[in-house]
Amino acid sequence: MTYSSSRYDFRDKAADYARLASELGALLDGEHDLIANAANTSALIFDALPEVNWVGCYFLKDGELVVGPFQGKPACVRIGLGRGVCGTAAAERRTLIVPDVHEFPGHIACDADSRSEIVVPLICAGQLLGVLDLDSPRAGRFDAADARGLEALAALLVGSITGSARPAPA
Ligand code: SME
Repeated sequence: MTYSSSRYDFRDKAADYARLASELGALLDGEHDLIANAANTSALIFDALPEVNWVGCYFLKDGELVVGPFQGKPACVRIGLGRGVCGTAAAERRTLIVPDVHEFPGHIACDADSRSEIVVPLICAGQLLGVLDLDSPRAGRFDAADARGLEALAALLVGSITGSARPAPA
């Protein structure tokens, strides 16, 4: 299989995230394996989004987050619920945007280049599955439009493992 993602400039974030969601839906279609789909979701986002240096998933295992498929530099393996940006987003079950990670108490530094971060919880049938985490070397890289777009992509990933993944109409 060869796969080439479309090029995006994200000047119109809503439109480009909608196109990316269509691509992701096609990429995940017919596959229900969580690790496989998390790997391809991370790779697609890392390839498509400008100014990101880490994209990946952490999964909830025995009460803590454990690193899953990702793109970027090696990362810390285990994060307790409520710790760091990932553990806080997971515990609060809401998307967290951190414009400057140096200002976030308890931020866990994996890549010294990271300056801003967004974490989207992965919720499957009311159960916390884990989080989707993105880092950027630019402070203030992520905004509400990124949150909406990434939440839609996260929903496709979660839906794919339950067989209900369908891209939103563009
Ligand atoms: N910065 C995260 C840790 C994970 S890495 O960014 C890959 C945090 O504070 O939870």
